[in-house]
Parts: sequence; structure tokens; C-alpha cells
Amino acid sequence: MIDGFGRRVEYLRVSVTDKCNLRCVYCMPEEGTAWLRRDEILSYEEIATVVRVMARMGLRRVRLTGGEPLVRKDLDRLAAMIAAVGGIDDISLSTNAVLLAPIAERLRRAGVDRMNISLDSLRPERADVIARRPGTLRRVMEGLDAALAVGFAPIKVNVVLMRGWNDDELADFAELSRDRPLHVRFIEVMPTESNVRLSADGFVSCDEALARLSDLDELKPVVGPPGNGPATYYRLPGALGTVGAITPMSHNYCGSCNRMRLTADGQLRPCLFGAIQTPLRDALRSGRPLVPLIEETLRIKPERHHLVHGSTVGSGGLVALSQTGG
Ligand code: 5AD
Ligand code: SF4
Repeated sequence: MIDGFGRRVEYLRVSVTDKCNLRCVYCMPEEGTAWLRRDEILSYEEIATVVRVMARMGLRRVRLTGGEPLVRKDLDRLAAMIAAVGGIDDISLSTNAVLLAPIAERLRRAGVDRMNISLDSLRPERADVIARRPGTLRRVMEGLDAALAVGFAPIKVNVVLMRGWNDDELADFAELSRDRPLHVRFIEVMPTESNVRLSADGFVSCDEALARLSDLDELKPVVGPPGNGPATYYRLPGALGTVGAITPMSHNYCGSCNRMRLTADGQLRPCLFGAIQTPLRDALRSGRPLVPLIEETLRIKPERHHLVHGSTVGSGGLVALSQTGG
């Protein structure tokens, strides 16, 4: 699959639900979003059909995401269906890990290779305030331990940077990469309708974060863990893991974009932001061919996002990243 700008698309992020068991301050409003109805959401069979069609067109890697993907029942069943598709050689999961511990082994056996875990503070009270749910940190840590124990690799820990909320924990987060093979990635907050103030006032660039970290210890640029994404990585002396940066705001990496997204209700989105999407659900349910719709979406994939610091103009009216899978 080659888009209109010559970029090869081999990676699909599949949002299996728009719901989440947390309400992270930078992501969702406290009251949640206007949830999709059950009948609007693609079944696992329908998702697998989309993956099968795209795999014949060149798709190689799939990420399961949400909302929080683990709030959907028996996610391992979907993982196994995707793992059985010829041509798909990598399945990953993006999760907040709260519900991970009991299902980690089943997911691993079903064919999930690796995962990204969101964790925005290492201090229990703060983690709860950021997630707007009590008991968050302990459950995430249990999930993280379970993920390590059953052999997911690499495991990446995503930290959304927010001034005044967690930007004094940079060194603690880096320490997390020392004794265990964890890859900590700092992420610049992106503006959406539900976080306008926070993303404007709380913005911390990754350049600033890494500069502050290198005052504390010696960070060496390294080749990072395998993945699909745009992070750059550094290593603390002797560390088993790495520290990385994802800079959607300060340095966009759209020139090497390799992905599309499938929303929980079956919209194929060629870019995280902007209003462009192609509905696949009706075609799926009435047995019409998907290939022309996918080809058209590739053709109109935008060159880049147009996010601007302090504004939601470029977000295409998106309330929360949970609606498109992040
Ligand atoms: N800006 C930056 N990152 C975000 N995420 C969710 N919303 C935002 C935002 N507005 C992150 C989550 C998760 C990843 C998929 O995206 O924390 O780690
Ligand atoms: Fe690709 Fe759009 Fe993300 Fe840029 S913003 S990397 S074009 S999906």
C-alpha cells in the first residue's frame, strides 16, 4: 500500500472500543465521551476481515488499541484471529495495564508480541489524580510485572509530559529503564477539544525533558527497540532499557508515516488528526468490496498533521485521542 506521497503503509492501529476505565486528564473529559452504541462497533470477525483484506494489499503489522482495549471482553480471541492472517508478522497492544495482569498470559499465547503501557506518574496519589481513578498505580505496576513475566518484548512505557503534573519525575522515569528491559518514552501532549488548557499551559517539549535529564546522568543516543513509530532513544550507563522521545508537536515525523487507523465503529482514518475518514462498516455488513475504499483512503492520506500549539484547529474536531486509537 503506497499513499499519494510515496509512503509505504504497512501498519494498522485498530481501536477495539472507544471506552476506557480511566479518565486521564490529557485524554478524556471526566464524564467520558459520547460512547458508541454496541451495534455501531465492529465485531471481532469484522475487524479480522478488514485485516485480512489489507494483509493481501501489504499490511504487515497490527496494533490493538482503544479507548482501553482490555475493557473489551476476550481480546485474546481477536489477537488469535489476527495472528492467523497470512502476512501479519507483528501484533502489539497499547494499554493502560490496569486490567492486564489476569489476561497477560492469554494474550501472549494468542500471539501478541509486545506492548506499550501508559503510565504518567510513579507517585500513587498523582497517578490517581491524573487518571481520575483510585488505585491506578498499583494495578498498572501489577500489569507491568505480569507483562515482563510472560515475555512480552519490547515493553514500552508511555509518559505524556505535563508541566506541574509530572515533569519533576523525569529522572525517576529514566531509572525505571535501568534494572528492567523497559523502554520509557516521553510524549509531547497533543491538543484535542477536551484538553485545550492543559495542552497549552502544561506543554513540555521532549528537547527540554532530555536536556534536563542529561544534567543528571549521561544519556547516550542508541538504536532503540524495534517498533513502528517515530521515537528516538537514549540509554543510561549500564541500563537494560532505554529512554525515548516522541515529539509530535516540536518535530513532526509525518514524512515517514507508515500507518492508518481503524476506529471502533469501522472508519478507516489515514491520519490521526483531521476529518478525513472512510466508513468501512456498511460495506463490510453488506458484503461490498473493501479494496476500492482502502485504495481511495490511501490516495487521500494527508501529507502531515496541522496541529498548532495552544489550538485545536488542526485536530479536526477530535474530542479525545481515545476516539481514534491514539
Ligand atoms: N497527547 C499525547 N499523547 C496522548 N495519549 C493520549 N492522548 C494524548 C494526547 N492528547 C497517549 C496515551 C497513550 C498513547 C496511545 O497516546 O497516553 O500512551
Ligand atoms: Fe501520520 Fe498523520 Fe501521525 Fe503525521 S499525524 S505521523 S501523517 S498519522
